[in-house]
Amino acid sequence: MPETYDLLFKGGTVVNHDGIGARDLAVRDGRIAAIGTINAQSAGEVIEASGLTILPGVIDSQVHFREPGLTHKEDLETGSRGAVLGGVTTVFEMPNTNSNTTTPEALSDKVARAHHRMFCDFAFYVGGTEDNVDDIAELERLPGSAGIKVFIGSSTGTLLVDDEVNLERIIAKISRRAAFHAEDEARLNARKDLRIPGDPSSHPVWRDEEAALIATKRLVGLAEKHGKRVHVLHISTAAEMEYLSHHKEWASVEVTPHHLTLVAPDCYERLGTYCQMNPPVRDAKNQAGLWAGLANGTVDVLGSDHAPHTREEKEHPYPQSHSGMTGVQTLLPIMLDHVNAGRLSLERLVDLTSHGPQRLFGLRGKGRIAVGYDADLAIVDLNHPETITNERIASRCGWTPYHDKAVTGWPVGTVVRGTKVMWEGEILGAGAGETARFY
Ligand code: DOR
Repeated sequence: MPETYDLLFKGGTVVNHDGIGARDLAVRDGRIAAIGTINAQSAGEVIEASGLTILPGVIDSQVHFREPGLTHKEDLETGSRGAVLGGVTTVFEMPNTNSNTTTPEALSDKVARAHHRMFCDFAFYVGGTEDNVDDIAELERLPGSAGIKVFIGSSTGTLLVDDEVNLERIIAKISRRAAFHAEDEARLNARKDLRIPGDPSSHPVWRDEEAALIATKRLVGLAEKHGKRVHVLHISTAAEMEYLSHHKEWASVEVTPHHLTLVAPDCYERLGTYCQMNPPVRDAKNQAGLWAGLANGTVDVLGSDHAPHTREEKEHPYPQSHSGMTGVQTLLPIMLDHVNAGRLSLERLVDLTSHGPQRLFGLRGKGRIAVGYDADLAIVDLNHPETITNERIASRCGWTPYHDKAVTGWPVGTVVRGTKVMWEGEILGAGAGETARFY
């Protein structure tokens, strides 16, 4: 009996672990069943994919979807619509909701809200605090847990572990790789007067390179002392990147598309508070350091740090304006445009968005185009010119810092566990997202 399949992508260019090449790709029962030259008669549905490029679905390991409590900005459903419109098939969502995700009950509440309502698969970080240190072993292992996230410097919300004693207590307890927002709270507090009212270009002056470097060094030092793995989120400075390149044994590294793409002072002149983010978007010298880390292998993953706020919240006069910008829907278009401009290879992009997160976080059955893996795919047209606009953005807050930006390279379709959830900008069917599984 010849093999039969549910879905066949015929004639596409597949990017997987053995390189880039023309291959057919067959899916059965939600998993990748065959790669190679496959008879079109063998499948229930055949998608003609010549001219298209098939990537493993993007795993965005840093998004803020704001549910529960802040759903005037976003919720799990709207956030995940943006995800799948942008080729993202799995997200790790952050704990600074209201209430904070710091208990088993809060985590299981998020999982229940997300199950078969989100359009992509999901896991949720649990906020590490001085109060739940003794529960860390349990919190790391509960179904749907992406592990522990700690804010060493304060940002949106109330989660904060700014003293070394409690930070060390947490690091001593973790067994999975935990994620950290590294800015030194004492230095941020001491420099608050450097904020110039009404001038968001003073944001990176206040939250300076040194604040980030101090916190990153303290974190990595504690990881080394206790032999633990730490993930340093949204690296924004050349100095941290240089330091981290010598500490890969302990620390994995995330950069964001906005730190790679937007640059001071231009972004503050053009976008004002819409560019305000923690850690801040900085100058060209720091951005060059991030690209160098991406080129030399120091960077492990790209995360969008999708952090929506309403226009009203963004338009308060600085510094009352909220920090954060959308990003989950634009991660892939922005990075494909960088690929087309020759700033990184397609293979390296896939390493950063799929293989990297799979390896770092121990995701089961995701992040690769290989037989037996979940059929999570981002199908893109590398040659498609498009303009990113606010109108396209599915996020409840309805804006992007890239409004009117022309890019080359665009997501055409998103497949989650073998089901087409987005095709040519349309979301198909109801949310069927499930909990990501970890080793
Ligand atoms: O600018 C930011 N906004 N940085 C963060 O770390 C949090 C985020 C948010 O949740 O708004």
